[in-house]
Amino acid sequence: MAFKKLLCVLFTALSLRAVQGAVVEKRATCSNGVAVSNESCCAWFTVLEDIQENLFNGGQCGAEAHESIRLVFHDAIAISPALEAEGQFGGGGADGSIMIFDEIETNFEANVGLDEIVKLQKPFVQRHGVTPGDFIAFAGAVAMSNCPGAPQMNFFTGRAPATQAAPDGLVPEPFDSVDKIIARVDDAGQFDELELVWMLSAHSVAASNDIDPTIEGLPFDSTPGIFDSQFFVETQLVGTGFPGSSGNQGEVESPLRGEMRLQSDFSIARDSRTACEWQSFVNNQSKLTSDFQFIFLALTQLGQNPDVMTDCSAVIPLSRAIPGNRPFSFFPAGKTVADVQQACASTPFPTLTTLPGPETSVARIPPPPGA
Ligand SMILES: *[C@@H]1O[C@H](CO)[C@@H](O)[C@H](O)[C@H]1NC(C)=O
Ligand SMILES: *[C@@H]1O[C@H](CO)[C@@H](O)[C@H](O)[C@H]1NC(C)=O
Repeated sequence: MAFKKLLCVLFTALSLRAVQGAVVEKRATCSNGVAVSNESCCAWFTVLEDIQENLFNGGQCGAEAHESIRLVFHDAIAISPALEAEGQFGGGGADGSIMIFDEIETNFEANVGLDEIVKLQKPFVQRHGVTPGDFIAFAGAVAMSNCPGAPQMNFFTGRAPATQAAPDGLVPEPFDSVDKIIARVDDAGQFDELELVWMLSAHSVAASNDIDPTIEGLPFDSTPGIFDSQFFVETQLVGTGFPGSSGNQGEVESPLRGEMRLQSDFSIARDSRTACEWQSFVNNQSKLTSDFQFIFLALTQLGQNPDVMTDCSAVIPLSRAIPGNRPFSFFPAGKTVADVQQACASTPFPTLTTLPGPETSVARIPPPPGA
């Protein structure tokens, strides 16, 4: 763990410098004038233009972006050295198997609803002649860039097409216990419980998809179009009711009308192993962005050899800043510190202001047309 932390600090420093162009040697200049590390990266600018226009509706942080980010995780985490040790196939990680073998993998319970984004992404993969694994990582990185407040994601190419579907049971589910989820991410990539929390920052830009088919597109926080810490604030508030008529498996009461809360998020926010890390993102944008930048890269390289991949991060756009008319972290209108279920024993909950106005009600995210 100590070693891992050190590695992580190092990694963050590296990627920040990469963003500034200090470490990655720029060996080629694309026709749009952008310097990249390898001229093979230039082709991705064409893919970028196409998906911004025709997948992300002009660069929106909407349902297509949310599901593209989710797809990165569900493709990547399906790798298990423990299964391999038992002589079974353990999955290939970030290898695009969820798209190549979508008939199999999108039928896994944990992947419910992902058939839609796979169907939307496939034509772009065919049109541009890239591998599904590279495309899923690229679309996820570009999707993040459409969400104000997001760090610039790293994007490396070089994933060969998967040759086998990942086995079922490797993607965590909302009703899994904290023990089970911690064990799963440890097996997948030797991630520790703090890194599990970093991964869950993705729920800042997320909504439910087929968890409850009667109430689709319910966001996990009140700002699903912005990469911020509201997910970590709002999961800590006392639940007051279900968004639908009753709770479904994996869903627990949420604090805001129209907001969905997963049982696993509720539990990890309150577990003594993870609660302080959860709270650490409140009022700390630089920690949120650097930890997520680190973990996104690690996820997109699961099952791959980073040494033979090509760094095309320069193709990923910079996101816009969070709108200046609000603090980075806040209590939604109608909520105060009295609604916080304090779980971190060592540090008090940060002092936040309450947004003015009537009690917050969260708007649905419309699902993609035709999905
Ligand atoms: C550029 O990337 C290609 C594969 O994408 C690789 O074969 C080639 O060696 C790279 N060139 C340099 C100079 O790194
Ligand atoms: C934000 O997190 C970093 C890294 O853990 C820490 O050094 C810094 O003190 C934190 N800042 C605030 C305002 O809590």
